[in-house]
Amino acid sequence: VSLSPFNTFRFASKAQFFAQVEHLGALLEVVAWAQAQQLPITVIGGGSNLLLCGDIAGLVIINQLSGVRLTAEDDDSVSLSVAAGEHWHSLVEHCVQQSWYGIENLALIPGTVGAAPVQNIGAYGVEVKDVIERVQVLAIDTGEVKWLAAQDCGFAYRDSHFKGKWQGRYIITEVELRLSKRPAFVLNYGGLKNHIGPEVSLAGVFETVCAVRRSKLPDPKELANAGSFFKNPVVSVKVHEDLLQRFPDLVSFPFGEGYKLAAGWLIDQAGWKGYRDKGVGVYKKQALVLVNYTALQASPLLELEALIQQSVFERYGVQLEREPVELPARVVSKEAES
Ligand code: EPU
Repeated sequence: VSLSPFNTFRFASKAQFFAQVEHLGALLEVVAWAQAQQLPITVIGGGSNLLLCGDIAGLVIINQLSGVRLTAEDDDSVSLSVAAGEHWHSLVEHCVQQSWYGIENLALIPGTVGAAPVQNIGAYGVEVKDVIERVQVLAIDTGEVKWLAAQDCGFAYRDSHFKGKWQGRYIITEVELRLSKRPAFVLNYGGLKNHIGPEVSLAGVFETVCAVRRSKLPDPKELANAGSFFKNPVVSVKVHEDLLQRFPDLVSFPFGEGYKLAAGWLIDQAGWKGYRDKGVGVYKKQALVLVNYTALQASPLLELEALIQQSVFERYGVQLEREPVELPARVVSKEAES
């Protein structure tokens, strides 16, 4: 089966075996089947943060579990348990309609609810970890379904254990979110405040985020892409100072012990914005987004990635790290690990 319709870069890697599952029973069945055949299992949600670099051995599961349940409610908040296959943006819309606060800044992020914790999706000053209470998973080796508390999931900027040490161990089946019924806004992210008038409302923030995103990010349905292709690199105070000396216009934000640099600015200033070659390119309105015009395989994109990384490193001494998840996952041999 070609996975081209199941990844927003539209690369044509193939799955050896393939299943689309719509309820937990079916998921348990296909997982048990693959385990019995000793086949590796790969799960894809919306495919919007994926870089398919080759064919995938074993079973590929498209997670389409659906359902949204209100699990608790008091005067201040609601808890929602949302199945992993639900569309993230539809959930955001639903919550805004219900006047539940907390995820409006995450509007229009493509992909599914189950994928959201994997890379801890974030935008405009909010990360999904801020509202996640717990994550329900199916443990592939035992078939057990259990809840993991948010604080155990290793959430960090565009990262979690699901993307790291737990890769291949769990399938996310549900995510429980806690949202506020009392107005609370996060508007400190530069662009957002400027776009919002004096009367702040939930629908207003939601609409503004949608408008800002539409103005600079390509719709994957129209132009294949996976959002930001690189993480914004974090550098020390010292490195930041040196860079500022050489590049007074550098765009950066205080982050932890150091500074987070706008990778889009670095790439843009290095002259890559709008670049196009071999069917792939750098989006003309946001240099952090790489796009696929016509390529069938990832190889030209990997070449472009290396060129950009090299150019940014030569100019600023900063190493850009890729953001989307690569499949098939690179196997680290036991020797290499020790
Ligand atoms: N900039 C440029 N040129 C560019 C792009 C950006 O000069 O081509 C500069 C601008 O000064 C801009 C600043 O960089 O003010 C930051 O750009 P932007 O607000 O577009 O955000 P970003 O840092 O490029 C991050 C996330 C996005 C998220 C936005 C908004 C990462 C890797 N990316 O991008 O997330 O939507 O902030 O919060 O952290 C994604 O992960 O796929 C994604 C789109």
